[in-house]
Amino acid sequence: MVIFKKAADIEAYLLSIRQKAKPVGFIPTMGALHSGHISLLQQSREKGDFTVASIFVNPTQFNDKADFDKYPVSIDEDKQMLLDAGCDVLFLPSVEEVYPPGDDTPVYDFGHIDTILEGAHRPGHFRGVGQVVARLLQIVQPDRLYIGQKDYQQCMVIKNLARQLPALHNLDIQICPTMREQDGLAMSSRNRRLTEPQRAIAMLLYQCLVSIQAKAGTQPFAVVQKECLDILKEKGFEPDYVALADAGDLTLLNDYDMNRRMVALIAAKIGDVRLIDNMVVN
Ligand code: PAF
Repeated sequence: MVIFKKAADIEAYLLSIRQKAKPVGFIPTMGALHSGHISLLQQSREKGDFTVASIFVNPTQFNDKADFDKYPVSIDEDKQMLLDAGCDVLFLPSVEEVYPPGDDTPVYDFGHIDTILEGAHRPGHFRGVGQVVARLLQIVQPDRLYIGQKDYQQCMVIKNLARQLPALHNLDIQICPTMREQDGLAMSSRNRRLTEPQRAIAMLLYQCLVSIQAKAGTQPFAVVQKECLDILKEKGFEPDYVALADAGDLTLLNDYDMNRRMVALIAAKIGDVRLIDNMVVN
């Protein structure tokens, strides 16, 4: 695995790969890797890509400075995991490489996707995601981008970004299934910050999603939503939302509509760890 820290160096190296007509697959990450990230890498390798991963904890997508400061960092373990998984190139840039001083990073508008759910609870978050993903894609210029369904709304933001940027119109965006622990908890770098008692109940988010899915079309969503909110609160979570939306355009729905594809989305804090998860309902 070759490691690059400078944008110009990885750009030059990948140019030579592209000249050999090898498709480039890209997995952007913020590190603290887990099996979910590795599954993205495996999918890229299965497709025969030359596989590039990046690790960059992007400051512009943290609306809460404390969350940024506490974001887990495990660079040596991450490198080993990527090496073991057969990653070809790791991009490990500094803030200055991603955001060169004096360069105005464009700000993208994601319309209503940026105003609801995560957008409402983390103002500026998706603007930061858009900035960093646009910049990383400009450097790596992959043929395929691998992102996890775990961040459903982020997937929509990135698809929207690709529509806004002509250079990305041919980008093949692969949205890969959420990897889960045995009890259903969605794998996330933030899980490492859970205490043992918090970890023991963290799978409640998944159980709420399963119940929203199981009760689809049999009970009003408002009833199921209240049950979920009540149980989460009773167990000590601070839920931000339990929501139902159109799976295609993320229009929020007040009730189940079995004529459209729906996704249930959930976000809740336990202690100072904020967890999110989602499940396609039908
Ligand atoms: O999902 C993440 O880890 C980040 O939001 C991403 C896509 C790497 C951008 O910083």
